[in-house]
Amino acid sequence: MAEAREKVPGLPERVPAHVAIIMDGNGRWARARGLPRLAGHRAGTENLRRIIRASVEFGIRYLTIYAFSTENWGRPADEVRGLMNILEEVIDRELKELHGNGVQLRHIGRLEGIDPLLQEKVRQAIELTKDNARLTLNVAFNYGGREEIVNAVRQMIADGVAPDQVDEETVHRYLYTTDCPDPDLIIRTSGELRVSNFLIWQGAYAELYVTPTYWPDFDRDELLKALQEYARRDRRFGRV
Ligand code: FPP
Repeated sequence: MAEAREKVPGLPERVPAHVAIIMDGNGRWARARGLPRLAGHRAGTENLRRIIRASVEFGIRYLTIYAFSTENWGRPADEVRGLMNILEEVIDRELKELHGNGVQLRHIGRLEGIDPLLQEKVRQAIELTKDNARLTLNVAFNYGGREEIVNAVRQMIADGVAPDQVDEETVHRYLYTTDCPDPDLIIRTSGELRVSNFLIWQGAYAELYVTPTYWPDFDRDELLKALQEYARRDRRFGRV
């Protein structure tokens, strides 16, 4: 049965089931204010709360956020440490509320390479929220799209999957996003026109929405604007 939701002014009829976001521009947001980069990541984290809340409000079912890429290890050590701390703090501070609001937390990417205590926290958060069904929040952390595909191929070989059994459905099952629908809409903040190794398999037919707004300023109304733009698009999936 469809959930009876209050009509949100301006919300289109057709809302994407799965929205994925490249949360870019924290560094530039901070620099524009004469602040250290980590202050930008902290402001970005605050914004994440707003966007999660707005996603629930708008009836989005899956939200995937790009929080730390496999390439981000190349950043200065204190920034990497800062981003790890932020993940830990988010779990410590927000988990209860997320759980209370029916958010299911998932991790996509590799846990290997992350501090074992943090790995354990991530596992516990996933376990605690696994039956929640309002919004699935995929946190891409230590994630790379090519790495994900390499990992899938390795797993298939390890499982003895025969070559003629490999089709698109099989690959889909072996990806980190195994039981998620593909993203309908990929949003990138701060203007760059790149996919940056994010959901490169799953995003094959996603609509792209790029805004010059830096991530810490991409608020509820900006998300609503993106949904309105999405609703105007004509998705043809290669057909006419
Ligand atoms: C890109 O901005 C942002 C990141 C690499 C990190 C995103 C992290 C957050 C929004 C915090 C939430 C994190 C977790 C773990 C839940 P940038 O630093 O590349 O900005 P720039 O391109 O302006 O330098």
